[in-house]
Amino acid sequence: MHRAARYAFLQSTSTKSCRFLILSSFRQGKIVPYKLTDIGEGIREVTVKEWFVKPGDKVSQFDNICEVQSDKASVTITSRYDGLVKVLHYKIDDVALVGNPLVDIELEEQLDNEISQEENAQERHPQEKPEMDRASIFPKDVVMSGENLLGKVLATPAVRRIALENNINLKDVTPTGRDGRVLKEDILAHLKGRFGNAEEEKDSGKVAPVKEYAKHMWKTMTKALSIPHFTYSDDCDVTKLMLFREEIKGALKREGISLTYMPFFVKAASNALEKFPHLNAWLDEESQSVKMVEQHNISIAMDTPEGLVVPNIKNVQNLSIVEIARELNRLQQLGKKCSLPLSDITGGTFCLSNIGTIGGTYMKPVILSPQVAIGAVGKIQKLPRFGERDSVIAVNLLSVSWSADHRVVDGVTVAKFSNKWKHYVENPLLLALGI
Ligand code: COA
Repeated sequence: MHRAARYAFLQSTSTKSCRFLILSSFRQGKIVPYKLTDIGEGIREVTVKEWFVKPGDKVSQFDNICEVQSDKASVTITSRYDGLVKVLHYKIDDVALVGNPLVDIELEEQLDNEISQEENAQERHPQEKPEMDRASIFPKDVVMSGENLLGKVLATPAVRRIALENNINLKDVTPTGRDGRVLKEDILAHLKGRFGNAEEEKDSGKVAPVKEYAKHMWKTMTKALSIPHFTYSDDCDVTKLMLFREEIKGALKREGISLTYMPFFVKAASNALEKFPHLNAWLDEESQSVKMVEQHNISIAMDTPEGLVVPNIKNVQNLSIVEIARELNRLQQLGKKCSLPLSDITGGTFCLSNIGTIGGTYMKPVILSPQVAIGAVGKIQKLPRFGERDSVIAVNLLSVSWSADHRVVDGVTVAKFSNKWKHYVENPLLLALGI
């Protein structure tokens, strides 16, 4: 079977409108561009991290096509069609825009009148069709000075990505490619001109675009600027907690579970939130209301190869310390591979950050809107303190800092909550028993 479709291009001399007619029938399946659909959360672009198919592969509906990474999470894209993969539109690490094709798939047996209908629809609403669709149906001679008749500049997705990231209108770039196509060299030359060779002037200074997880950090941190933060710090003696963990961590390790301090901190937060539900909440600025959430979905600030990401452990109120540890291990594994799915990243209700893995004592943690409170712990330090009868004793101190949205949470509530949390981390048995 051979695809014998041809297009004739008829252009009216009196108007700029154009039409395409299919002159011979499709004996083989129709080739459809499979577009990246809206994956929610306001995501407009993603980075292609892995392809599970290559041209020539047969795919069925729901087969995995590729793994993409947004600034919030990684998502596996599955096929909507049965057919043969013809073209992959992106290379690994290219940025794909929502609405543009990811792959072309040749469908199993299609009727050519479906094609005609689609072409007619295109004629009626040319602006509604994404550019790459048009490129695949335009005959070569429709292309004039780098723009097709719909006024779009020709360029590859990689070039478009650079343009998008640097806020460049491709029409401003001088094209040197065939048919006036804007090449990567063209846009790089344009960029160099725009920055006035600042890179060379600063010797080794390089321009690094903000991407993926860092983009999300940009958004959430900018949003946090409008939140009046109330910050409160205290020290906790975690000597008993350290002994308690020492006793059980070996046994858990043999079961493949790494038990750090974090699961205790997370459980202590959940137990304390039972008493202070106003802190496990989402603020709706528009309606000026606070929704107390029943589930304790505790967000954990996590350092990953691609920067800070904040997945959450769901329903901590129902989990034991060991179950929290297992869940944290799972999230850390995914974080290391930068493949946390959206479901693990969304829905957090209260946040904890442990910078003590790196060092440091006190912090001013930044609230993750719409949450209303966040805690951060520093590194456990062995320090001298006064004991009974002014004796000097060695204690293991953990510093904790809390920030709360002072529009809806008062300082006394934060201090009381902190005392409760401290009670639990200083008394691990009571923590485990929930009393
Ligand atoms: N003080 C002393 N030791 C600590 C500690 C602390 N505050 N926190 C962790 N440790 C120890 C752990 O117990 C573990 O030692 P072990 O092997 O003897 O058990 C070791 O440090 C490494 O712990 P880690 O693997 O990092 O796990 P964790 O559960 O303690 O922490 C994360 C998990 C996700 C919080 C952590 O890996 C991380 O990413 N921290 C950075 C968070 C961040 O970026 N914060 C800034 C936000 S702006």
